[in-house]
Amino acid sequence: MALDLTAGRGGHAVAIAERLGPQGVLVAVDRDRGNLEHVSGRMARVFGGDPPPVESLETATPGPRTPLGRGPAVVLMHGNFAAAPASLERCGLAADLALADLGVASTHLDQAERGFSFRFDGPLDMRLDPTRGPTAADLVAALPEAELAEAIRRLGEEPLARRIARKIAQRRESAPICTTFELVDVVREAYGLRAHHSRMHPATRTFMALRIAVNDELGALEALLGEVRRAAVAVAGSAQRSSWLRRGARIALISFHSLEDRLVKRAFAAMSRDGLLRLGQSRPLIADDLERDRNPRSRSARLRIATVGDPSNPQTARTAAHDP
Ligand SMILES: C[S@@+](CC[C@H](N)C(=O)[O-])C[C@H]1O[C@@H](n2cnc3c(N)ncnc32)[C@H](O)[C@@H]1O
Repeated sequence: MALDLTAGRGGHAVAIAERLGPQGVLVAVDRDRGNLEHVSGRMARVFGGDPPPVESLETATPGPRTPLGRGPAVVLMHGNFAAAPASLERCGLAADLALADLGVASTHLDQAERGFSFRFDGPLDMRLDPTRGPTAADLVAALPEAELAEAIRRLGEEPLARRIARKIAQRRESAPICTTFELVDVVREAYGLRAHHSRMHPATRTFMALRIAVNDELGALEALLGEVRRAAVAVAGSAQRSSWLRRGARIALISFHSLEDRLVKRAFAAMSRDGLLRLGQSRPLIADDLERDRNPRSRSARLRIATVGDPSNPQTARTAAHDP
């Protein structure tokens, strides 16, 4: 079974499904139900058969899944990938490959009504799952100035974070900031003349910080890495304990932000030291020139790969025995 934790528009999912063939099972997860509905139609067009239904991670139940016409059985699960491991274990599914391609899909950035982009005017939303949780406008309205400054500085690495937070606090006293262009306007004001000399759009870092905060992207990644550890401990400790990852499963995580990559790097290194994972390579894989030209977003992508279980390490069993 292969697991795509961030199905997006299905590019990776279709490529994996092609390699799995009719005997395999592909589980694809996304927080955005619209993306999963798109992947459902795409799978049916590529492999034939009925479009697979979109299930909820919270309510998915065990049971046989019907293979597509010429492809594997495809299970589409809506929800936060942090909740996927519990759901998979409830359904008795264990993965040989788990992939997460973190962040937003390019279609999120291209849809004005989702509010992710400073290039289009739209509601200041930024939720990957538009059915739940506070929007970016809610955060901008409610966070105290110091917390806003800290979020913009830490998550966006924005040097003018305090100035921007102050301008937001001043502006919202007279009227709420509800749209992307209203926020762009405030950031431009904070930048002043610097906006003309800035290489990137002055709102780039502020928008990125808010998006990461709205979706608690680092929290979700930390939770996922915790689940990888739990599974690796279970795999190392006892053949009987069921786990969402099989011994020998590959974990592949693609991050686009140094904060994400740092979390992955440290978690993988700690699990490798404890004999729970075998690292693919010490440095992350990056896109080559050809890929960068074809897909400019790949410029900041970092891929780290690890294998669950390290039978050559005698510490594995001991660590597993002591880990709760
Ligand atoms: C970079 S795109 C993935 C693109 C995909 N690999 C493809 O080939 O089309 C990231 C996707 O992950 C989803 N996502 C981000 N964080 C998530 C989370 N915590 N749980 C589930 N899905 C998430 C987003 O909604 C988005 O569709």
